[in-house]
Amino acid sequence: MKQLLVIGLGLIGGSVALAARPLYARIVGMDLDPAERQAALSLGVVDAVTEDLASAASAADLILLAVPVLAVESVLRQLQPHLRPETVITDVGSCKVVVAEAAQRVFGHIPAQLVLGHPIAGAEKSGVAAALPDLFQQRKVILTPQAETDPQALAQVRQLWQTCGAEVLEMDMQQHDQVLARTSHLPHLLAYSLVDTLASQDERLEMFRYAAGGFRDFTRIAASDPIMWRDIFLANREATLSALDDFVAGVQRLRSAIDQADGDHLVATFTRAKAARDYFTALLNATGYQKMTDQKINFITQPPSGALQGSIRVPGDKSISHRSIMLGALAEGTTQVKGFLEGEDALATLQTFRDLGVQIEGPHHGEVTIHGVGLHGLQAPKGPLYLGNSGTSMRLLAGILAAQPFDTELTGDASLSKRPMNRVADPLRLMGAKIETQEGGRPPLKITGGQTLRGIDYTLPMASAQVKSCLLLAGLWAEGETSTTEPAPTRDHTERMLRGFGYAVEQQGATARVRSGGQLQATAIDIPADISSATFFLVAAAMTPGSDLTLEHVGINPTRDGVIHILRLMGADIEIQNPREIGGEPVADLRIRATPLKGIDIPVDLVPLAIDEFPALFIAAACAEGTTRLRGAEELRVKESDRIQVMADGLAALGIDCTVVEDGIDIQGRGDQQAVFGSARLPCYHDHRIAMSFAIAGLRSAGSIIIEDCATVNTSFPGFAELARSLGCGLEVQQGDLPPAG
Ligand code: S3P
Repeated sequence: MKQLLVIGLGLIGGSVALAARPLYARIVGMDLDPAERQAALSLGVVDAVTEDLASAASAADLILLAVPVLAVESVLRQLQPHLRPETVITDVGSCKVVVAEAAQRVFGHIPAQLVLGHPIAGAEKSGVAAALPDLFQQRKVILTPQAETDPQALAQVRQLWQTCGAEVLEMDMQQHDQVLARTSHLPHLLAYSLVDTLASQDERLEMFRYAAGGFRDFTRIAASDPIMWRDIFLANREATLSALDDFVAGVQRLRSAIDQADGDHLVATFTRAKAARDYFTALLNATGYQKMTDQKINFITQPPSGALQGSIRVPGDKSISHRSIMLGALAEGTTQVKGFLEGEDALATLQTFRDLGVQIEGPHHGEVTIHGVGLHGLQAPKGPLYLGNSGTSMRLLAGILAAQPFDTELTGDASLSKRPMNRVADPLRLMGAKIETQEGGRPPLKITGGQTLRGIDYTLPMASAQVKSCLLLAGLWAEGETSTTEPAPTRDHTERMLRGFGYAVEQQGATARVRSGGQLQATAIDIPADISSATFFLVAAAMTPGSDLTLEHVGINPTRDGVIHILRLMGADIEIQNPREIGGEPVADLRIRATPLKGIDIPVDLVPLAIDEFPALFIAAACAEGTTRLRGAEELRVKESDRIQVMADGLAALGIDCTVVEDGIDIQGRGDQQAVFGSARLPCYHDHRIAMSFAIAGLRSAGSIIIEDCATVNTSFPGFAELARSLGCGLEVQQGDLPPAG
C-alpha cells in the first residue's frame, strides 16, 4: 500500500495532500500544532495524523517536508534512524542550498533518495484550512537534482507534482537561490518594508483607507507568513543581500533624479522598466521557446474550403529587423524603425540591446525608437544573454560582443543550443577574439571582452550571410580592414544597412570590406514584409486551384528572391507589381495566381537565395507533376532543425515518395491528384518554418494534418494562423497537450 507522509500541515503541505490523493492509498500528516493536526483530519486532508515520527517514517514511501527551511535539519535528524533505504524524501523550501547543507550535516552526504524541490505557488493565507487541491495547477515546480540523485526518486517526485497539476522544471541549486532571491524574496522584503514604513507613520492607519490599487497590488504579499519569510531571508542571506544592494542603488539613482528634477532619467528608467515588463508579459503569454512557459500550441488543418483570394501583408522582415536594432543601437543619435517584426527572434535581439544598456522604446505596432549609444557605448549586461531560438541573433551578436571591453555569455533554447557556432567563433578567433563554445562548437558562447581585434581577409567555407555579417560587424572595431569573400551571393542586408547608416562598405565581386574607425549615423528604417513569410502564402496560392492572391510590400532584394525564380520555373504565375525602393531595399507587391506546377531540377545558384524557403517549396514540389530535385543544399541540415530530414520524414508520413541525399532531396510530385497529402501527425522539432509548411500542406489534403508543438511559429510569423484563417484556410490552433499518439 503506497503511503505518503506530509510533515508540516500548512497551506502547501495540506494542498499537496489533497492533490496527490490519486497516487497514494494512505496519506499521513504530522504537525507540531495539535490544532492543525485536528483540522487536517476533520477536513479530510489526510487519512491519519501522528506524533510518532518513527513509525510513520518507516511506513512511508515518500516523505514531503513542508516545514520552514530552517526547521528541515532537525526534522531530518529525527527521521534519519527510521528511514528505509528506498524511501524518497522531498521538500518545498524556497531556498535550496541551505536545505542541501542541512542534509549534508545530518547524513554526512546528500542522500540519493533526497530530491529537493520548490513549488512556485502559494497564497497569503496560511494553515491547513486554507489548503486547496488546485493550488499547483499550471504552476511551476523547480526541482534541483544533483548528479548523485537517484533517477527513480526523481521520477517519483516529478510524478507527485505532475499529479498536482504542476509543470516541473529542473535547475541547478545555486542558480535557483540566485534567481529566487531576485524574483521572489526581494519583492516580499519590499512589500513588508513598504507596509511597515507607512503603517508606522500612520498609527491610526488612516492613510490605508485611501490607498489606491497600486498600493494594494504591490503589497498583497506582505500578508504572507512572517516565520516562513524570516527563515527564507536568513537562509538565502548572500543572494538576497546582493539583490537588495542592486535595488537600493537603483532607488538612490531615482531619488537623486527626483531631487535634481532630472525628468530624462526618470523617463529613461521607467521606459526601460515598462518595456522589460511588457516583453516578459509577452514571453509569458505567447512564447514558444522560453522554457519558463513551455506553452504548447498545435496546428490541426481541416480539409480545404476553397481558393485564396485578396490582398494581405505579412509581418516585417526578420533579417532586417535584427539588423535595425543592432545598427540603431550602435549609431550616434536616434533611429526610428517602422515595420519591425514583433516576433520572438527579433524581440530577443531587442531585449539583448536593452540588457546592454541601450534605451529602446517600443515596439508598438511595428514602431521602435532606438537611442543609439555609439560604437563604444554598450554596457556590460548583468547576466547571460538569452537568445531563444534565434541563430541570427547569436551569430551576429558574437561579432559585436567579441569586440567589447566586457565579458558576455550567449545562450539559447534547445534548438539553438544544438546549432554550430564555430563557423563564427573560428574566424573571430583569427581576428584575436577570445570565445569558448561547448563541445562541437555549440552554444552557450562565452566571450571574454577586452581583446584587441585585428582585421582579416576571410574566405567563407559556406554561403552564410550570418557569418559574413558577424565578421563585417566585428570589423567595425578591428584594427585595419576586414573583408569577407563568399562562395555564392547571400543576403546583403548588413552591407546595405551599414551604408544606410553612413558607413562605407566596399564591394568587389564576392568580397565585402569594411575599415574600422568610422561612425554610424542614426537614420529612419522602413522594414518591408518578409519574403520568407510571404512564401507560405505564395506556395499556398500557387497550389490551391482558383487562387488569386496579392502579397503587399514584400522585400524582393535580389539576394532573397530565389523563391520567385524557383516557383516561376515550376510554372507559377507571379506578377511583380509596383516595384519601388524603400530605405535601400527593393520592395514590390506580388500577385500570384494558381496554375498547375511541374517538377524541376532546382538550379544550384538559386539555393542560397532561397535558403529559408525550401520547407515550403518542398510542399509545392509535392503538388507539382514530376520530380523536383534539390542539390547543394547541405546548409539546410543545420537550420532550426535538419530541414532535409525532417521534411522528408513528414512528407513520407503524408504519402509522398522522396529520396534524401546528403545535400538535398528528390521529391516525386503528385500534382495529378486533387488530394496530394494524406493525414498524419507530425512533429516540427522547434522549427517554425517546418510547422508553417505542413500547415499549408493541409490545403491539398483530404483529411487532417496535426502538427505538434508549433509555438516557435511566433519566432518569425506571429499571427500566421489567424492570417491563414482570414483567407479561408481551415487551420485550427489547439492549446495544451495532445493525447499521446497511438
Ligand atoms: C540569415 C541568414 C541565413 C538564414 C537565416 C537568417 C540572416 O542563415 O537562414 O534565417 O539574417 O543573416 P545562414 O547565414 O546560416 O545561411
